[in-house]
This record gives sequence, C-alpha cells and structure tokens, in this order.
Amino acid sequence: TYNIDPDLIESKITSKTKAIIPVHLYGQCADMDPILDIAKRRNLYVIEDAAQAIGAKYKNRMAGSMGHIGCLSFFPTKNLGGYGDGGMVLTDDPDIAEKISILRVHGSKPKYYHSVIGCNCRLDAIQASILLAKFKYLDKWNSERRRNAEIYNSLFQGVDLITPYEESFNYHIYNQYVIRVKSNRDQLRDKLKDAGIATEIYYPVPLHLQKCYSDLGYKKGDLPKSEESAEGTIALPIYPELTREQQEQVAKVIKDFLG
Ligand SMILES: Cc1ncc(COP(=O)(O)O)c(C=O)c1O
Repeated sequence: TYNIDPDLIESKITSKTKAIIPVHLYGQCADMDPILDIAKRRNLYVIEDAAQAIGAKYKNRMAGSMGHIGCLSFFPTKNLGGYGDGGMVLTDDPDIAEKISILRVHGSKPKYYHSVIGCNCRLDAIQASILLAKFKYLDKWNSERRRNAEIYNSLFQGVDLITPYEESFNYHIYNQYVIRVKSNRDQLRDKLKDAGIATEIYYPVPLHLQKCYSDLGYKKGDLPKSEESAEGTIALPIYPELTREQQEQVAKVIKDFLG
C-alpha cells in the first residue's frame, strides 16, 4: 500500500512528539484504527493527510474524518481538482476550527487585529465555484478510476511487476495507480514517453534524503522501504476518461519492455 506501518510508530515517539500524520497515499487510507489507538494512549493529535484521498473510505469511514484534523488538496491533479491551488481543513473540534479559521486570514480576528501570525490561505471564490460545480461528479469519477485500476490489474496478471494492493477494509480512490518494477524503472519511463504515454514518479527522493532535511542526519540505507519505493515505482495514467484501448496500449509497452 506504501502507507505508514502502524507497528513501527510507537518506537519512534519521543517526548517531543505532538502528532501522528498518516498520509493516505495514492488514494488509499492508512490503517487508522491502530494509529488512533496509539494516539489516544500517548495523548497525541492525529492529522490525516488526505490530499490524495478525497472520497476514500476506511471501514466505511471517510478519509479526513477520523483524526483530529483532516487535510484535503484541490490541486488540479487531485480527484477533485480546481483550476489552480486550493485545499480544505476538516475538523469536528470547535477550538481547532476557530484557530485554523484565524490562521487562514493572516492570523486576524477581528479583521486587521492580529493575535497570531497566520497566512493568506483563503480559497479563491473562482476556485470554489469550479470545485462546487465539479463536486457532484466526484463519486462517479472515483468509481471510474476504480474500474480503470481493475482493468490494469487484469492486464498485468502474470507480468513481472507489483500492482497496487488494496486492503480489504479500504475503498481506494486511485488518485494514482502506481506499479513497481525490480529494475530499469527510468528506462521503462522513457519507453512509455516515446509511445506518448505520460507517467510520473511519486516520489523520486524520499523525505529523509531531501536536502532541506539534511540537518536531521539521515543517510541512504536508513529507510530501506522508502528508498526501494522511490527507485522502483512509476505512476500510470488512471484518470476517469481513460479508455480500455488506451490502457491496453500502456500495458503493451510495459509488457514489451519487461519481455
Ligand atoms: C499526499 C500529499 N500531501 C500534501 C500535498 C500538498 O497539497 P497542496 O499542494 O494542495 O498544498 C499533496 C499534493 O501536492 C499530496 O499529494
């Protein structure tokens, strides 16, 4: 699934830890029950990064509704995408809601009186109107992505690659359909590009190896699963309007490449 492993969380908690931030990567929820249980026992907040998972479900609960805070993104590549940047914070805690609504408008309440330092995080009215118009199609688009994922899964049966794994308790909304190959991922990407097929690598450099975090002192080899994923994964087109014929073309290029 490429999601956080709840069994490894507790050993990482220190006196400085304030929150657990599970990312519902590619559109599939992290295993939230054990995470919520750890957070409760250790008195931590849970902030769900549901940027890629709007409409996804975990044991019939909606992504973004399980932690203290849920974060959505309306970046154009998301399942509900605007024509520019946008996002939403979800919470059922009135105190958190109040704090976030103040941070959102330069930290001011009342207007022009600043008790905290905030940011300009308003959703543009033009984006809001586009998102509202598109919102009614979200469930349909999500189910079309699921259909496309099933088609890929069947096309890749018996092929030497790893397809996405959907947990039995999850409703994955396939913001991304990410496959993994043992080697030569970048050459495969070039072949797909030559055939006119766009792909993306989510993500080429894991967080612990990003330059901006070099002061934390991590080195290559410290998080082997993240590193393997960064080297072997590639996201294929999965958008709702994709046709079976197009998916067959994608699969053919990949099968020819893998021999
Ligand atoms: C998993 C995840 N978290 C956070 C973000 C950030 O969202 P935004 O670009 O809307 O701030 C994105 C998308 O870019 C994402 O995919």
